[in-house]
Amino acid sequence: MPVPDAAPFLAVRNLCKSYPERSQFGWRRRMRPVLQDISFSLRRGEVLGLLGESGSGKSTLSRCILGLEEPDSGEILFEGQAAHRWRATHVGKCSVVFQDYVTSVNPAFCVRDIIAEGLRGRGTDAVPSLLERVQLSPDLAERLPHQLSGGQVQRVCIARALASKPAFLVFDEALSSLDVSVQTQVLELLRDIRGEMSYLFITHDIQVAALLCDRLLLLHNGKLEDTVDLSCGDALSSPYLRDLVDSAVVFSSEYAAKDAAKYVTDAVSWESRT
Ligand SMILES: Nc1ncnc2c1ncn2[C@@H]1O[C@H](COP(=O)(O)OP(=O)(O)OP(=O)(O)O)[C@@H](O)[C@H]1O
Ligand SMILES: [Mg+2]
Repeated sequence: MPVPDAAPFLAVRNLCKSYPERSQFGWRRRMRPVLQDISFSLRRGEVLGLLGESGSGKSTLSRCILGLEEPDSGEILFEGQAAHRWRATHVGKCSVVFQDYVTSVNPAFCVRDIIAEGLRGRGTDAVPSLLERVQLSPDLAERLPHQLSGGQVQRVCIARALASKPAFLVFDEALSSLDVSVQTQVLELLRDIRGEMSYLFITHDIQVAALLCDRLLLLHNGKLEDTVDLSCGDALSSPYLRDLVDSAVVFSSEYAAKDAAKYVTDAVSWESRT
């Protein structure tokens, strides 16, 4: 549960970001706004879900917070301090897991070396327990990324992100490549350690968001359209969020599982006809 705090752990104020766009005629460029006047805060220990259609600016916002992109204007503060200064004195305290795990790891590094990057010179003794935390066998430590499945590489990335004991962790659609049973295990791990750090959890999966997050932010065309406090049972006023809820397949009840099975059977019989 988030700890009530006078100053928020993270404050984003009036953030704007645009990218140059080549004009249709020649090389003249104009700027296309991608984030427009975004303001929100995150309390210590809080899990904030960031949802929105593809291209709405979720990854750009997380990259600005992590210092991987320079905003055009606005402020980002960690514990009341300008983000770049805070990061300089809290090395390793911000971690990220990207959806694109293939480009997130050095293909020449074995699993032990990849996780050791997160341990930052503290040796590799913690590697086996970090692998176990993400439901991987410590026997995989000597393997190279191409000798692992996509889901296993993603879990290695999660282990590396946890290795530095971050205070702030960004998950940018990091669970979507995992199968449902592994996703559930990783979600349970994230729920277990949620008090220890603050998360920004980017996802398209409303069920996962509802399971893990305290609040949801909805981005639409680069603007903050809605904030939902799940702990207060806020109603979902945004049509996008309502659509996500309506389209979610619930696997928990026997009835819904039968429906899902029928959906798969229909899809297979359609494929065999074509
Ligand atoms: N480096 C860049 N240069 C130019 N345009 C960019 C750049 N990065 C992102 N964009 C554009 O900014 C917009 C927001 O992109 P962003 O990746 O933040 O969206 P997103 O909400 O994360 O989408 P998705 O759910 O598909 O990951 C998109 O229109 C994208 O094409
Ligand atoms: Mg994205």
